[in-house]
Amino acid sequence: MAKNKLGGRNLLFPMPVVLVGTMIDGRANFAPVAYVGSHDRKTVSIGVHRGHATAASILDDKEFSLNIPSVPMVRKVDFTGMKSGANYDKSELFEVFHGTLENTPMIEKCPVNLECKLTETIELNNRYVFMGEIVEAWTDDAFLTNGEVDLSRVDPLLFNINDAAYWRVSDKLGEAWDPGTTLEWEK
Ligand SMILES: Cc1cc2nc3c(=O)[nH]c(=O)nc-3n(C[C@H](O)[C@H](O)[C@H](O)COP(=O)(O)O)c2cc1C
Repeated sequence: MAKNKLGGRNLLFPMPVVLVGTMIDGRANFAPVAYVGSHDRKTVSIGVHRGHATAASILDDKEFSLNIPSVPMVRKVDFTGMKSGANYDKSELFEVFHGTLENTPMIEKCPVNLECKLTETIELNNRYVFMGEIVEAWTDDAFLTNGEVDLSRVDPLLFNINDAAYWRVSDKLGEAWDPGTTLEWEK
C-alpha cells in the first residue's frame, strides 16, 4: 500500500466538544474546546489558547467545569466559540447550576457535567494545557441506562479539525475485551 506523508500533523480527531465553564467577574462564561484529553478515570486535560478569557479565569480560580453538549445544542455551542467572555456576556445563553466547587458554573441542558480542580498547568507554545481532577460528575435520569451514562442518549457533539466540521457518533459495535477473544493467538 502506498502511504501518503502528511507531515507532523496531529490527526487525533474527531474529538468530543466540551463547553468549558468558568466565572468571569461573577458571571458564568462558556467556551467550546475540542483539544480534550482523558487520562484515567479521574483526570482530564484541555488545551486552551493563552488569549482566551477562559485561560485567565482558570489560572485565577484553579477550577473549571466540562459540560458535554448534545448534537441539538450545536448552534449555541458554535456561537460561544465566536464570542469572548472578555468583551461579551455569555452568561444568559444557558440555564446554569452550581455543584460542589465555587467557580464551576455548569449547563443544565448538557447531558453530562464534570467539575474539575486544576492540578497542573503545562505551558505549550501559545496554549496552556490544564490538567484537572474530576471532583464530581453530574447527569440526569434521562441519560442513564441501568445506572450508567448511555452514549446513545447523550448524543455528544464531535469536532473534526481536518474538515473543520461537527460530527456525531453513530452505532455501537459491540462489547470491548470481547472480539479479541475469538482470534487465536499466534506467537
Ligand atoms: C468547535 C470549536 C472547538 C474549539 N476548540 C478550542 C480548543 O480546543 N482550544 C482553544 O483554545 N479554543 C478552542 N476554540 C475556540 C474558543 O472556543 C473561542 O475562541 C472562544 O470564543 C473563547 O472564548 P473565551 O474568550 O470566552 O474563553 C474552539 C471553538 C470551536 C467552535
